[in-house]
Amino acid sequence: MGEIKEKNIWWKEVVAYQIYPRSFQDSNGDGIGDIQGIISRLDYLKDLGIGLIWICPIYKSPQDDNGYDISDYQNIHSEFGTLEDFDLLLREAHRRGIRVIIDLVINHTSDEHPWFLESRKSKTNEKRDWYVWREGKDGQEPNNWESIFSGSAWEKDQLTDQYYLHLFSKKQPDLNWENPKVRQELYKMICWWMDHGIDGFRIDAISHIKKKEGFPDLPAVPGKTYVPSYSMHMNVDGIQKYIEELCENTFRKYDVVTVGEANGVSSKDALDWVGENQKKFSMLFQFEHIGLWNKDPNQKIELKKLKDVFERWQSAMQNDGWNALYIENHDIVRAVSKWGNDSSFWSESAKALAAMYFLMKGTPFIYQGQEIGMTNVKFESLSDFQDVSAKNWIREQQKEGKTDQEILNELCFTSRDNARTPMQWSSEKNAGFSSGVPWLLVNKNYPQINVENQWKNPDSVLNFYKNLIKLRSRNLGWVYGNFQLLNKDSAEIFAYSRRFNGWTGMVVCNLSTKKVQFSTTETNLKLVLCNYRDGDKEQSFLRPYEARIYENCL
Ligand code: GLC
Ligand code: CA
Repeated sequence: MGEIKEKNIWWKEVVAYQIYPRSFQDSNGDGIGDIQGIISRLDYLKDLGIGLIWICPIYKSPQDDNGYDISDYQNIHSEFGTLEDFDLLLREAHRRGIRVIIDLVINHTSDEHPWFLESRKSKTNEKRDWYVWREGKDGQEPNNWESIFSGSAWEKDQLTDQYYLHLFSKKQPDLNWENPKVRQELYKMICWWMDHGIDGFRIDAISHIKKKEGFPDLPAVPGKTYVPSYSMHMNVDGIQKYIEELCENTFRKYDVVTVGEANGVSSKDALDWVGENQKKFSMLFQFEHIGLWNKDPNQKIELKKLKDVFERWQSAMQNDGWNALYIENHDIVRAVSKWGNDSSFWSESAKALAAMYFLMKGTPFIYQGQEIGMTNVKFESLSDFQDVSAKNWIREQQKEGKTDQEILNELCFTSRDNARTPMQWSSEKNAGFSSGVPWLLVNKNYPQINVENQWKNPDSVLNFYKNLIKLRSRNLGWVYGNFQLLNKDSAEIFAYSRRFNGWTGMVVCNLSTKKVQFSTTETNLKLVLCNYRDGDKEQSFLRPYEARIYENCL
């Protein structure tokens, strides 16, 4: 193979960090994280080595879905601060060499957005067609689609007796992307933010903007009134026309990074979204690895399937496009609890999972708290849950006759609130998150698991992440090098190499509680990072969740 030549591209070389503002840092004691709180933690992020932060929605919002229901795109939600606070955050981040991207939610708005308030007024309102309104069918909803947040995807509006579509909560009506006026209005808003100096967007639910023509019913599912409707609105044929027009009118005119949330997009379709010639998005959050969860406590990842997914995405992007790498975000449970082992091998497994995904080819994203191995939370009562999708689900399950205990057991493993408990900064009251009453319960394990403790401890999960970041920024091979999966048939080991102009890096992780044999044909490799104190003493065996990272001695 010849020399690999890469243009240096900033968003490929950085490590990104996702902030869920409500739970990150409260600055004024109202129990809700805010922009000033984020500013006060920028030095922490800088010291960790972060070059890009993604901030979940901070726009004006009734907060039905914690900000993903926007009522004013060009204002800041008052609990989070003001536009001046946001400008200060931008300046303070930029001063530290940290870029800032914000969430762009354009599949839907809040039902309290002025556009929807107009649209709802009458069938002939000038903005009626800005949302998706339909007549009911035989006294029922227009079709049997289920909302992603449970129940029907349609809500009847008494005023005009028609139904509007909401793929998410009923307070998140879907915009009608068929209407060019809607699209133009969104483009204007997007350019306004870019003129404001932000460095890009994470684009929410973008694979859902096109709906299946004619809104057909889905085949009935026995025992269900509404049918999961993803196939009717996820990456539906023809969506690229909208994506193309969106990019042409907005991002292409600026030097920004864009990360699309792309549920339902397969590795085969990926280059339509992120191929360089397409000039559309920079990268995608794909979803294929998210559901691969094994209930076997000895090995909680379906490892062969996981390797298959990552290998497919890595090879799809080997020479074109770019991957966004992640194992956590605000919509999924904590990785160490789901895929690792948050009791006997908490520290080892948190680090092994980190090593597994972090050094593949792509831009790694860390979700707040992941870097200290935050775990799922054990709520004791259904009323502890705050997530709108959990609340809807509880209601549906109760209707079906499930007991509260059964529902609680299930939610403990699945609820998005697991990832949303306040950030654990220290062993002080409320984990140092707030001096008031936090909006969501703090995980009780904060006296053990927190930033302050781990910062001081060289063997901590936090310092492992810090070292990973250092490693990746010291050597461009980890950024641009070719990816190859190793030990492909192993059911316990996740291993890969990266090669870049004569340089080789290798990552080896045992993702099980067993001791397993390991061999490699690579030679001349030097251990540069590991998660057991005595390094790779046991050359040909990997201990439970042992992870090692090697580089060759050039
Ligand atoms: C995305 C967000 C999620 C939100 C949904 C609706 O999936 O990540 O948090 O609830 O879109 O906006
Ligand atoms: Ca606050």
